[in-house]
Amino acid sequence: MEEKSKKCVVLGVTGGIAAYKACELLRLLQKQGADVYVVMTKNAGRFVAPLTFETLSGHPVACDTFERPATWEVEHVALAKRADLFLIAPATANILAKMACGIADDMLSTTVLATRAPVLVAPAMNTGMWENPATQHNLSVLASRGVRIVAPATGHLACGDSGAGKLEDVQVIAQTAMDMLRGRVRDMEGLRVLVTAGPSREALDPVRYITNRSSGKMGYAIARAAQRRGAQVTLLSGPVALECPQGVGLVPFGTTAELLQSASALAPEQDVLIQAAAPADYRAKEIAPQKIKKQSGAPMVLELVENPDVAAALGAAKRPGQVFVGFAAETNDVLEHARGKLARKRLDMIVANDVTRPGAGFDVDTNIVTLVTKEACDELPMMSKDEVADRILDRALALRSAKKAE
Ligand code: CTP
Repeated sequence: MEEKSKKCVVLGVTGGIAAYKACELLRLLQKQGADVYVVMTKNAGRFVAPLTFETLSGHPVACDTFERPATWEVEHVALAKRADLFLIAPATANILAKMACGIADDMLSTTVLATRAPVLVAPAMNTGMWENPATQHNLSVLASRGVRIVAPATGHLACGDSGAGKLEDVQVIAQTAMDMLRGRVRDMEGLRVLVTAGPSREALDPVRYITNRSSGKMGYAIARAAQRRGAQVTLLSGPVALECPQGVGLVPFGTTAELLQSASALAPEQDVLIQAAAPADYRAKEIAPQKIKKQSGAPMVLELVENPDVAAALGAAKRPGQVFVGFAAETNDVLEHARGKLARKRLDMIVANDVTRPGAGFDVDTNIVTLVTKEACDELPMMSKDEVADRILDRALALRSAKKAE
């Protein structure tokens, strides 16, 4: 997110055991550039002390202020106006019911009633309360008024029950909030997106292989972002230590040849193809059937043969209207190499990065990239891989619109 003017999130915390997770949520929102103000209900204050939120947010926490009626009116209006987004997490059945009825009897319910900002709620409660028709009715009333809802997850609840009602992962809530702030909600609905990620493994013998330092983080961030924005996403992944994002179809690959085979089968039906994988350029000419033994001091010679270039093969079969994006991890002459790859592989965009720069490349959560197209070269500042993912998708959508207009 642009740092020029920080967006303001008013975070409403209500009284449930998940209130402690709001601390982490606040941190995540700040990390993504938001300025967070907290409003708590009296009951939330029994779970987490207002001082915790005050310290984390760097702002006074608005609590139930009937004890301070002189400031109440002013405070709630000021906060309601300041909000670019109003987020309530965790949201109890009680606050949802109050919001649905327009009840304003404490600081939080009064402030949310007064705000004109978009509202997002992340409910958390006992399964019985969640499933109760009264709660479900209140939610549908709120949804019909434009309130966004991050539905609770299913799992083991603090009350001992198992079922729906667990506060959704705070990462998901934070991301939804940031998307709403950026007005970037589900703009990829109906699009099919194939993302490749991670390294390949080329076996030398039954116990050894050649691979590279790709962690898969960038590709997974793109798959996650595209899914969040409404696309139907398939993730073709090499061996990585990452969890496949929810709602994304995973197709694993081992070798570059396997990647080529799966990608060739899937590519024709995609609207957007993003190749963040790092397939090995070479493989052993022959895979030893048994473990290769030490050569008693003699040099070890491995004979390698070139692998197919997957991006080039797919590029050659690209249909009109499809947008193909590749990556170029370089250590020198970044732009020159990127431009060469753009043409050679018939790509519409290359995401180029100098992997020798701190904060870019392998196994880190940030990246510094330049988006290279035929027409332009756009160097982005260091940002999280999640943010880079959204920038890549923004550009891919723009390229797609330009193609459609042709
Ligand atoms: N790529 C590919 N098949 C390969 C090697 C790379 O499809 N055998 C793809 C990668 O997924 C990436 C792009 O091509 O999107 C560029 O990868 P990179 O390793 O930077 O380029 P290479 O073509 O391998 O060029 P070089 O190793 O000479 O830099």
